[in-house]
Amino acid sequence: MPIHLPPTSRRSFLHGLAVGGASTALPRLRASSFDAPAPYVALLADTHIDADPGKFVHNGAHNMSNNLRAAVGDILAQPTPPEAVAIVGDLALKNGQPGDYAQLLKLLAPLRERGIPIHLTLGNHDDRGPIREALKAQADPAVEGRFATVVDAAGARLVLLDSLDKVDEVDGVLGEAQRGWLAKTLDAKPDVPTVVLMHHHPSPTEGPRPGALQDTAALFDILRPRKQVKALVFGHTHVWRLDERDGVRLVNLPAVAYHFDARQPLGWCRLEPARDGSGATIELRCVGGDRTKDRERDELSWRGA
Ligand SMILES: [Fe+2]
Repeated sequence: MPIHLPPTSRRSFLHGLAVGGASTALPRLRASSFDAPAPYVALLADTHIDADPGKFVHNGAHNMSNNLRAAVGDILAQPTPPEAVAIVGDLALKNGQPGDYAQLLKLLAPLRERGIPIHLTLGNHDDRGPIREALKAQADPAVEGRFATVVDAAGARLVLLDSLDKVDEVDGVLGEAQRGWLAKTLDAKPDVPTVVLMHHHPSPTEGPRPGALQDTAALFDILRPRKQVKALVFGHTHVWRLDERDGVRLVNLPAVAYHFDARQPLGWCRLEPARDGSGATIELRCVGGDRTKDRERDELSWRGA
């Protein structure tokens, strides 16, 4: 299986998991009344965990383990747990050392103990070998050497892509095989609101930019006509930003670990799809940095199917 961290408690039976586009459909509990708490997913990016829990960066300004611990604590303090947690890459500090992933697992354990499944994508500071070893994960056989996967959660379909090209080199690439898998996977369920997640931010429309996803144009050729794709979620920039492209909502998650600009928040986002499929509410949850927009909620209307 790709990089899923299954719960270590019985609550796992409440979740449907789809791998490689084919649902393995464990039974899911659906709210029977609109008074029931709305299901949501917790979205995180750029945890940059070092093997040393006492490691600080930026002259002692940020301790990555403490920041992820705070985010995990805030998720667990929500009135109801999320149906899933997704972390979109740059899990490790710099180049994906085995000890980084061991520490990451320790920090994520309280979520798993509460029965919350966790799904991971890779960023440019990760390394497939060590994470495969640490998490006993396997790349998707449908996409050679890549960790790509599909998860059903909170009434939406989450398609997680692997944009890691070369370890500790900043550019991202999906590649032809993964893009082909994406198109096929999306075509398998054209009627389910879908959110695509990856680490790298898309290049602007004028063409590839250093540091961004180099095959952005080819990605949008796939996303644009498939109207079930409502949003693209990514990290990488360590900047919190909402935007739109070709009708697809763009959600640039803040980093958990550290920022490059003190005006940026550190934290995670709560994404709550509307039950009628018309959109989603996204809430910023700060654990550090500039907290001015903490708990700010934005309504994201989805483009029509
Ligand atoms: Fe990062």
